[in-house]
Amino acid sequence: MRLIAKLILLIGVSFTVLTVNANSRAEMLTATCIACHGENGNSLGPAIPRLGGMSRNYLLGAMLAFKYEESGQLNAAIESDPDLEDVEAFTRTSTIMDRIAKGYTDNEIKIIADYFSAQELFVGQQEINLVKASSGKKLHEKFCASCHEESGTSSEGDTGILAGQWQPYFLWTMADYLNGSRAMPKKMKIKLQKMIKVSGHESLELLSNYYANVTP
Ligand code: HEC
Ligand code: HEC
Repeated sequence: MRLIAKLILLIGVSFTVLTVNANSRAEMLTATCIACHGENGNSLGPAIPRLGGMSRNYLLGAMLAFKYEESGQLNAAIESDPDLEDVEAFTRTSTIMDRIAKGYTDNEIKIIADYFSAQELFVGQQEINLVKASSGKKLHEKFCASCHEESGTSSEGDTGILAGQWQPYFLWTMADYLNGSRAMPKKMKIKLQKMIKVSGHESLELLSNYYANVTP
């Protein structure tokens, strides 16, 4: 009897130690990220994207793309790990994330993606032109909503999050897509090019006002 009680106690204690360890490991790994991306991924500076609400696979794809940079290496890393089977990653250039991402193993990146995908989408105050936001809504519905669901608040389909994102970050990202320094899904490219052809580059400014104004 005494032995069983001791065993149960021991199992209980090891479980607690295990969970505490997992939590503190995530905290340790994400401390650097939080310095820039903010507590819970709610970054306070317009050049640094907010991470809350993004799906695990989107975050994995982004981090691996920063880390491996070149598409051959990126695809090889994903294909060699059955855990990453559902991740679709698109190459992208960056100002600092390439260097940061290289400091982590793929397994550490998984722990980090778990952590940030559990954080909630946050929409902070930004200066918004409501007339532009309302035109942006129409463009969103016509060209983007089929994938960026629920007014861009959903990361369903591993699309990332558009709602509440900093406007400068959104505009730089769109510039990267248009000049080819960030790869995107083929169907998104078709819709984006069509929108620019029909409504011009001003459409990006309209969309950025719309996304900044969406409340989840
Ligand atoms: C020195 C500031 C800084 C630190 C530290 C930092 N980031 Fe970043 N992060 C950025 C910037 C700036 C970008 C925009 C891409 C670029 O220019 O590098 C970015 C982009 C990202 C993106 C892409 C977001 C999107 O919407 O696609 C992810 C994901 C990300 N960072 C995750 C992390 C993680 C995880 C860590 C910690 C391991 C981290 N970052 C540490 C500044 C930082
Ligand atoms: C066919 C589906 C599809 C359509 C249509 C689409 N997107 Fe996307 N979008 C995606 C996917 C998937 C990703 C994630 C790509 C990645 O992992 O790098 C994405 C990523 C993005 C990002 C990057 C988010 C970030 O945090 O860095 C932006 C910005 C974006 N899309 C804007 C748009 C806009 C604006 C439109 C309409 C003109 C649009 N998309 C239309 C599927 C789509």
